[in-house]
Amino acid sequence: MRFYVEKDYDALSQRAANIIAAQVISKPDCVLGLATGSSPVGTYKNLVAKYENGDLDFSQVKTANLDEYKGLPKDNDQSYYYFMHDHLFDHVNIDPANTNIPDGTCEDSEAECAHYEEVVASLGGVDLQLLGIGHNGHIGFNEPGSEFPKATHCVDLQPSTIEANKRFFASADDVPKQAYSMGIGTIMRAKKILLIVSGEDKAEAVAKSFFGPVTPEVPASILQFHPDVTVVADEAAFSKVP
Ligand code: F6R
Repeated sequence: MRFYVEKDYDALSQRAANIIAAQVISKPDCVLGLATGSSPVGTYKNLVAKYENGDLDFSQVKTANLDEYKGLPKDNDQSYYYFMHDHLFDHVNIDPANTNIPDGTCEDSEAECAHYEEVVASLGGVDLQLLGIGHNGHIGFNEPGSEFPKATHCVDLQPSTIEANKRFFASADDVPKQAYSMGIGTIMRAKKILLIVSGEDKAEAVAKSFFGPVTPEVPASILQFHPDVTVVADEAAFSKVP
C-alpha cells in the first residue's frame, strides 16, 4: 500500500485528482470506479477544474459507481445518480451513455445486482476505483461482517450508517434502508484502488483498516491484500496510525 498524508482536505483532494488525471491521460478510454459522499467532493471539483483548463478529456472515459440507494428516483437530490451529475458528469465532456450507476428504482434486487455486475464485466473491469471509508471501516455499503468474496448485492443499511447519512435527509426516517452496492469481491477486482479519507473522526477507521488485522469486521482491511492500493489521507485522518 502506498500512503500520501496531506496537510488538509484541499491538499488531499488535489493529490487524489492528480492521480485520477494521470490515469485518464495514460489511458483515455479507462474505466473509473467512482464513489459519492463528502470525501470525493473536493476531488471532483479539482477534476472539473482540470477539464475547464483544457488539461483533461473525458470523452472516452467510462465510469461505474460503487453504489446507489434502493428506492430513490434519479431526480431525488439525495440519489447518487443526482450527486454524480451535480458534482462531475454535468461539468465535463463525459458521454452520459458511458456512465453507470446501479438503478435504485429497480425493485428486483437480484436482477439489478446481476445486471450491474455484468455491466462492470462488459466494461472490461475497473482500471481505477475511487473509495471513501466509513467510520466502521465500510467501503461501498459493505458493512462489518460482509463476506469478502461478494459481488454486487442489495444491502440492509446499518443503524450507524443511517445515522451518519441522515445529515443529508430531512430526518433519519427519510434515509433509505437498503442500497445496491458493489461487493468487496467486485471492488477487489479493480486493477488499482485509490482510497481518500479526511478528518479525525476517521482516524480510528484508518488505523484499524490499514495497520490492524485483516478481518470482515473491518471491511476495508481486505485492501491490505490488494496489489495496488493508494491511500490519500489528511493529517487528521492519519493521527491514530501506530
Ligand atoms: C459512497 C460510499 C461510502 C462512502 C463512505 C464515506 O459511494 O460507498 O462507502 O465512501 O460512507 O462517506 P463520506 O465520504 O461521506 O464520509
